[in-house]
Amino acid sequence: MTPSEAVATRRSIRQFTDRPVDAAILRRVLEKAQRAPSGGNTQPWNAIIVTGDELARITAAIKQKAKSAPMGEGHEYDIYPKNLDGRYEDQRKAVGRAMFDALQLKRDDGAGRIAQMMKNWDSFGAPVQLFTYCPKYMGPPQWSDMGMWLQTVMLLLREEGLDSCAQEIWAMYGTYMRELLNVGDEHIFFCGMAIGYRDVDAPVNNFDVPRMSIDDVISWRGF
Ligand SMILES: Cc1cc2nc3c(=O)[nH]c(=O)nc-3n(C[C@H](O)[C@H](O)[C@H](O)COP(=O)(O)O)c2cc1C
Repeated sequence: MTPSEAVATRRSIRQFTDRPVDAAILRRVLEKAQRAPSGGNTQPWNAIIVTGDELARITAAIKQKAKSAPMGEGHEYDIYPKNLDGRYEDQRKAVGRAMFDALQLKRDDGAGRIAQMMKNWDSFGAPVQLFTYCPKYMGPPQWSDMGMWLQTVMLLLREEGLDSCAQEIWAMYGTYMRELLNVGDEHIFFCGMAIGYRDVDAPVNNFDVPRMSIDDVISWRGF
């Protein structure tokens, strides 16, 4: 698989099969992903990779928590800026619309939409979760480094025929996630990433995810 093919075939998968993932493949991917770049080579990413009974324990605990605190509790960063607007907010809404349309969930079907959202807690059926965190004192440049590492992992997973969905939603319960994962409060929880094999036929994995034109986001100078 070429890098272009890995980029083109990566998408956020929201329905996985129950096919287990070989730990040796994950180790290979994670070893290779250590080549991801980072400012000053600080390599600020940390992660806990979870499957089986341990993932079941975390899943059960977070579902319980989501019942008692449905709007989140103890989040340590804002998943979106409070004043998100313009094309950024438009794009955020557009992908939600495209996903709910693919699932034939109408605008007024609040229960159906919430049920879809709740599938996050089951990792969309994926057998593996990668929970990421970094020291609390790290700033935006190091968070950007974490993103580069995550994308490197996601593309290498494609090379192995695997799929993923990054999941910030777990950060709605950031302090609780650290507690569940036994990560000290000198760290901040960033996100999860569901890992497994895609259900190729699921409509939720097959809708078109719109992207801006490069003419709207890149200005060329001096060419
Ligand atoms: C850091 C990060 C966190 C994300 N968190 C979630 C999430 O909690 N739940 C979810 O369904 N999708 C999540 N996504 C997926 C985005 O919605 C998705 O990347 C975006 O809509 C573009 O679609 P694509 O990944 O299919 O190309 C996340 C993506 C990133 C990069």
